[in-house]
Amino acid sequence: EASSAAPPRRPFSQVTPADLDFFRQLLPGRAITDPDVLESSNVDWLKSVKGNSEVLLRPKTTDEVSRILSYCNQRNLAVSPQGGNTGLVGGSVPVFDEIILSTALMNQILTFDSISGILTCQAGCVLESLSQYLEEQDFIMPLDLGAKGSCHIGGNVSTNAGGLRLLRYGSLRGTVLGLEVVLADGRVLNCLATLRKDNTGYDLKQLFIGSEGTLGVITAVSILCPRKPKSVNVAFLGCSSFQNLLETFQACRGMLGEILSAFEFLDASCMNLLEKHLKLTNPITESPFYIVIETAGSNAAHDEEKLHNFLEKVMTSSLVTDGTVATEEAKIKALWSMRERITEALRHDGYTYKYDISLSVEKIYDLVTHMRERLGDRAQNVVGYGHIGDGNLHLNITSPSKDPALLAAIEPYVYEWTSQYQGSISAEHGLGLKKRNYIYYSKTPEAVTLMGNIKAMLDPKGILNPYKTLPDDIC
Ligand code: FAD
Ligand code: MLT
Ligand code: ZN
Repeated sequence: EASSAAPPRRPFSQVTPADLDFFRQLLPGRAITDPDVLESSNVDWLKSVKGNSEVLLRPKTTDEVSRILSYCNQRNLAVSPQGGNTGLVGGSVPVFDEIILSTALMNQILTFDSISGILTCQAGCVLESLSQYLEEQDFIMPLDLGAKGSCHIGGNVSTNAGGLRLLRYGSLRGTVLGLEVVLADGRVLNCLATLRKDNTGYDLKQLFIGSEGTLGVITAVSILCPRKPKSVNVAFLGCSSFQNLLETFQACRGMLGEILSAFEFLDASCMNLLEKHLKLTNPITESPFYIVIETAGSNAAHDEEKLHNFLEKVMTSSLVTDGTVATEEAKIKALWSMRERITEALRHDGYTYKYDISLSVEKIYDLVTHMRERLGDRAQNVVGYGHIGDGNLHLNITSPSKDPALLAAIEPYVYEWTSQYQGSISAEHGLGLKKRNYIYYSKTPEAVTLMGNIKAMLDPKGILNPYKTLPDDIC
């Protein structure tokens, strides 16, 4: 467990009664020290890492965030930024007694331009609330994920979250047009542009996208939103082999083209967990693999015809063995939950070792098969699911409780295997606390050193989210 375990506490100051007085004066009623409230903010969503913070701060404005960081930097107090606390790599909770800076009350929509589709909002807006707001105006968010009911847009940007729509709308690196960020010393960096095009010097906002709260606190986001599609269809299909699934993907891209908006997969082990722990019902006959395909377009008749032709082709050629299609909202939602709720089902299955790998699609499932053989009875379940359309596999391994011997059989082997095929050891979840020391499997020493230089320039005292993202030998 050595590499993912916490390093020793760094010599930051400890919070004193005078510090608490300062915070209480700055944030009346919003500097929380009640242990019952703090308990849930100290533990991550997976309940796998736990900090010991005694203070939770809930600013409402950028100016308050600026004053907090300016004070903490002077006092050498460490700060752990937190959004919806749905992160999966132990990045969103303190490791020791870092102050938790929550964006929960920074939930105001600032502007929305219904001609350009550009939304500007505070970082603590919940993704699902933003989606609801936009849908009323015939727009949607360019990203969607299973954690939408809790995650904040600031957390999404800080992790560069991928999710279920990336195949169609691209990553946040393209759709985020501007950010407002408070730096470690309290300076406010206003890069909140609302322009599609802006080549004036370095694109500084990119530094904060995916940097997991280690370089600054994101306080506002402007983001380009697509029009709400008039027609949405979801197909849930069964495949007898992974090879057939890949060929279905190829056919799907060719035949659905511009209306394809998601191509996701799960294996039979995931289905077992959905049935067992969440009592969901498999909508089709049992298969080794399942696919969720979504189309989104502007002409229902045209989209349905395209989907129909595609389904006829993959069924007659036996690439797909069974399937069901939904056009109406409730059924669409039910089919999507077979994919979106796997994370929740796994949490009920025991302790979960989660891997989030990018690989060329042809190789993707080999890792699951291989790990199943390697671990045998030592693992309770070894499951594979993910964003096939993006070459992103989620390999998850469960055991009744934390099991160091099992972990030693998985890591670093799974990272070595990924690196051997030029994959990434973190496709979309980030490195956080758990994976920071494995960065070298995907990045060169020169690249990691440069990351360390950037960190030292922006946060010389290292107060922002210490022990996260960068490996222990860098900071
Ligand atoms: P948190 O978990 O609170 O924080 C995540 C990281 O960002 C931490 O390092 C934190 O310090 C930092 N941070 C948070 N807010 C700020 C801020 N304002 N400024 C600076 N740093 C900040 N991820 C995907 O990529 N794709 C998925 O499909 C996906 N599905 C998920 C489904 C479920 C059921 C769950 C539980 C998680 C899923 N995730 C997914 C992981 C997670 O939801 C995303 O990483 C999400 O973007 C985190 O947002 P959050 O607000 O919860 O951030
Ligand atoms: C997903 O795609 O379901 C998310 O990334 C969460 C997970 O990996 O479990
Ligand atoms: Zn995912």
